[in-house]
Amino acid sequence: PVVLKEAFQGRFYIGTALNLDQIWERDGEAIALVQQQFNSIVAENCMKSMYLQPREGEFNFTDADRFVAFGQKHDMHLVGHTLIWHSQAPRWFFSDENGKDVSRDVLIARMRSHIHKVVSRYKGKIAGWDVVNEAVLDNGEYRKSKFYQIIGEDFIPLAFQFAHEADPDAELYYNDYSTAIPAKRDGIVKVVKSIQERGIPIHGIGMQEHQGLYHPELDEIEKTILAFSSTGAKVMVTELDVSVLPHARENQGAEISETYAYKNELNPYVDGLPDSVMNKLGERYVNFFKVYLKHSDKISRVTLWGVGDQYSWKNGWPIPGRTDYPLLFDRNFKPKPFVQDIVSLARNA
Ligand code: G3I
Repeated sequence: PVVLKEAFQGRFYIGTALNLDQIWERDGEAIALVQQQFNSIVAENCMKSMYLQPREGEFNFTDADRFVAFGQKHDMHLVGHTLIWHSQAPRWFFSDENGKDVSRDVLIARMRSHIHKVVSRYKGKIAGWDVVNEAVLDNGEYRKSKFYQIIGEDFIPLAFQFAHEADPDAELYYNDYSTAIPAKRDGIVKVVKSIQERGIPIHGIGMQEHQGLYHPELDEIEKTILAFSSTGAKVMVTELDVSVLPHARENQGAEISETYAYKNELNPYVDGLPDSVMNKLGERYVNFFKVYLKHSDKISRVTLWGVGDQYSWKNGWPIPGRTDYPLLFDRNFKPKPFVQDIVSLARNA
């Protein structure tokens, strides 16, 4: 039988993101699969700041505690996602009582107290944190988020410093998407070096790897692994999935109604995935894992962004109601045909 965590033993952790039903073990078949296949987990949503601190000073750790307890019970490598991210951050974080932007000092203080509270709670339990998520744009510049606008580029090293204060033994990661774009790759390397130059620890760089069937090219991915690794940080694949659907142009996203999306060419596989596309998906996945195995001295973890196709965020993005097939396990919890090829590849590598 296919057992991913055995196949990749001695290479890298193989992980999955968990949703709330899985964290609370309401989804027995999914949980059985998680235990059987994976040795690392990350919470897909429940550790984001809008859930952990919905109002200033009011923390809600119910789901996050449960996630950590689940991981400990099953002896998993636990990853915390994510401390500082412009998205899924509560609006109060950046605003005063009149709705105006807070001062730089106030935002730094809020970052410090959020990070200290969250990281110290799971000290010694969460092995590594996505400290800062998605702070660099595709052109390599800093994203003009509220964190950047109010604090400036210092917000990134400060976040790492606060996380290190709260748990000096935890690994600390920078995490981003579309990292195969050369300008973005270079921008991220610069950010990482700016953290290191201040003597603040950063242990890993996460390549999210939300991919399509044709883009990006493998050699650009390989260049990114080498560039990230050249900083001395570990490299990890943190949110792997491969969409089989045509990419919806951005300006269509808002206009296309759910009913229309079901019928038109943007949602072609409602009734199942044709063999030809499954084969293409398999080829793509096998090629990715070839690259990861080739560089397994640099890559410490590969995490899939979901247990099986029915749970993937890709079914609802950027258009609601699409049917996508982006993961390794299908809607019946069965490994797709090419998973056996990935396992053989790993065993023979
Ligand atoms: O839980 C509520 C539910 O109560 C409500 O009825 C429903 C209606 O919209 O929303 C539910 O919350 C949704 C949540 O996922 C849980 O399903 C949010 O609307 C939705 O925005 C949220 O999406 C998540 C997304 O991050 C938010 O930006 C996806 O699940 C999650 O997969 C995705 O993950 C991100 C990573 O954190 C960072 N990298 C990119 C990746 C994909 O976008």
